[in-house]
Amino acid sequence: MATLTTRCLGLEFRNPIVLASGPAGFGLELAERFDLAQVGALTTKTVTLEPRAGNPQPRLVDAPCGVLNSIGLQNPGCDAFREELLPKIAAFPTKRIVSIAGRSPDEVATLATRLSGEPGVDAIELNLSCPNVRGETVADDPGRVRAFVRSARNASARPLLVKLPGERGDLGLAEAALSAGAKGIVLINALRGMRIHVETGLPLLDREVGGLCGPAILPIALERVFAARRAFPESVLIGTGGVSDLRGVVEMLCAGADLVGLGFAVMSDPNLVFRLASELDGWMTTRGIDDVRALRGAAHRGGIHVR
Ligand code: FUM
Repeated sequence: MATLTTRCLGLEFRNPIVLASGPAGFGLELAERFDLAQVGALTTKTVTLEPRAGNPQPRLVDAPCGVLNSIGLQNPGCDAFREELLPKIAAFPTKRIVSIAGRSPDEVATLATRLSGEPGVDAIELNLSCPNVRGETVADDPGRVRAFVRSARNASARPLLVKLPGERGDLGLAEAALSAGAKGIVLINALRGMRIHVETGLPLLDREVGGLCGPAILPIALERVFAARRAFPESVLIGTGGVSDLRGVVEMLCAGADLVGLGFAVMSDPNLVFRLASELDGWMTTRGIDDVRALRGAAHRGGIHVR
């Protein structure tokens, strides 16, 4: 058996497979059907200070090799999350990353303060890149990113990750987040996109624009993670965006990800997601690769070296 254990953020993850924020919800339905110990971590759906109903329907539309979503941060709000969901999440046999978002640095600080003392919160992911909320995507300016991250950082002793968009080609936002105290970066969120009804000529989503996820965005996510690993060799990176099979996991690790997030795949084939760690183990073992560290960042070191 190969070693898949991944140590980062001061935590030990059983394997590098992470359920990304979104399709896994709060993990409760998945926990009824699957063994969460098969994944390294669950990232919760993003929690906001107040409950949110999300965007009007329709908010999911097919796209070639993916799906456009326009959920709009639907969630029960921080208090209900803490009182009703977190005690169940705390019992999951995997690491728990809690995703949060807010309208201002103060709101983010309040959320981080209320959640960070709770059992069941191993790390916090600050979502600064949701494409589905009007006027609230923070990650369009390094100064704003710095202000939000500093605020969350000062309010919580938990390791802080920041989820950034994939649209921007430069690394200014990542640099801003890391210099403000984030321990790691999550790249990439869904990419803004749209579809149009050919009979009516109108956008298919009620909110017109949604977030494109699924295999269509894998090459973009890989390039973003590769560039971030080159620029920030010591920082923690969770690579997410379009990974939907073993090949995508291996590619993401080789690009430089410490952990690999799966979102769309949880919707399209949850059975596969919960098999991936064991498939990775088998794939490595047949190639004589005994530790997942041999894959991580291999694209920056002249490829995979088998001892
Ligand atoms: O709309 C949503 O709830 C998705 C959020 C995201 O992609 O960050």
